[in-house]
Amino acid sequence: MTPIPTTDLRTDDIQLGSPEIWSRPDRDGIFAKLRAERPVSFHEEPEFIGFPKGPGFWSVVRHEDVQRVSRESEIFISGRGSNIGDLPVELLEFFGSMINMDAPRHTKLRKLVNRGFTPRMVAAIEASVRQQARHIVETVAPKGACDFVEEIAAALPLKIICDMMGIPESDTRRMFELSNIILGVGDPEYGTTMDALMTAAVELSQYAQALGEERAAAPRDDITSVLMQADVDGDRLTTAEFASFFILLVVAGNETTRNAISHGMKALTDFPEQRRAWMNDFEGLAPTAIEEIVRWATPVIHFRRTLTRDVEIAGQKIPAGDKIVMWYNSANRDERAFDDPYRFDVRREPNDHVGFGGGGAHFCLGANLARREIKVMFEELFRTLPDIHVVGEPDRLFSAFIHGIKRMRVEWTPPRR
Ligand code: HEM
Repeated sequence: MTPIPTTDLRTDDIQLGSPEIWSRPDRDGIFAKLRAERPVSFHEEPEFIGFPKGPGFWSVVRHEDVQRVSRESEIFISGRGSNIGDLPVELLEFFGSMINMDAPRHTKLRKLVNRGFTPRMVAAIEASVRQQARHIVETVAPKGACDFVEEIAAALPLKIICDMMGIPESDTRRMFELSNIILGVGDPEYGTTMDALMTAAVELSQYAQALGEERAAAPRDDITSVLMQADVDGDRLTTAEFASFFILLVVAGNETTRNAISHGMKALTDFPEQRRAWMNDFEGLAPTAIEEIVRWATPVIHFRRTLTRDVEIAGQKIPAGDKIVMWYNSANRDERAFDDPYRFDVRREPNDHVGFGGGGAHFCLGANLARREIKVMFEELFRTLPDIHVVGEPDRLFSAFIHGIKRMRVEWTPPRR
């Protein structure tokens, strides 16, 4: 059994609200300690660029508790925000999409946007995912080395989400930059200030509104057109609703899948016997390998809910009105839910991970699309660059929200032409 990580910190000294936690090498040990000793804990909120400092938050770190908070959506609501800090009012318009809503409004909106993500829609873009992945791999193939994140992992989800939304090729690069600014909040490299965040949000929103209006007038074969036409019980999305959903999709669709693919590449380099097993039976092991990559990567570290009534979790009483944070990274390493959780195992089964959320009303809408992208990307990589491997340590994003890799060098033997 792979040893469970440890930390020298005392339980009382663990402050999950402190940004410093996210640069510590013993982060996994810290969560293991909380799972063992204090499965429900209270933390102060960090000061955050322009965000009002809130009253603090409760944390659940065990798989069972994360699932409960995720599934009981009448008690643990999203309408007051899904990140730790409350959104300043100026930003609500741009980020007030379905992820920050509750029933019945959330249910209605989700029904509308679901039309863009039915298995039929996802199957329809299968050919395009394959074609793009092949193009990406063939473009880098002669080089023998590159930055995996920008040239391989980010390129696929970016291109696919832009195609699905009907964003022209000439604008994809800008979408990449804007989503980096939004999710890079907190990392000094991106230096995101409140102003920069606002400017990025306004730019995306204006872009979305213009595109939405264009497609409402002249529909094409893309999700923007489906969404602008969709009608559920006489309701249509307003342009502003569409714009905040557009921002959610561009940001969620880009960063998460990119990081799953990057962490997957790192794990397949670090565990060569797992890589060999998958390469020897790609189709057979793909379903379990993909879920294991998402569990291992846990690209989204947390989401928050707010209590509508007093509850007790694992013996801890929590009053109505308080915030509660589900730590997916910790739930996905919970020794109570996974056999040998620190082992990367492409055959892992069962694998009830919470990488796409712990179940319930907000479960990731793009999960099937993401699975498809991860599968096709590794299939193309293994086929064309079978010895591709990570060199050195990845450059990690400094964030409590996104488990990100900013840069990661890979090398391979260029194929003979
Ligand atoms: C490996 C890739 C991905 C991961 C790890 C991931 C993770 C998540 C998580 C943790 C949630 C919150 C679930 C909850 O609160 O219960 C979520 C929600 C969501 N995701 Fe993903 N996601 C991924 C890819 C995508 C893609 C490709 C798209 C779209 C193109 C997408 C669109 C969404 C949307 C729209 C929601 C909000 C759903 C709602 O509020 O009802 N995601 N995702």
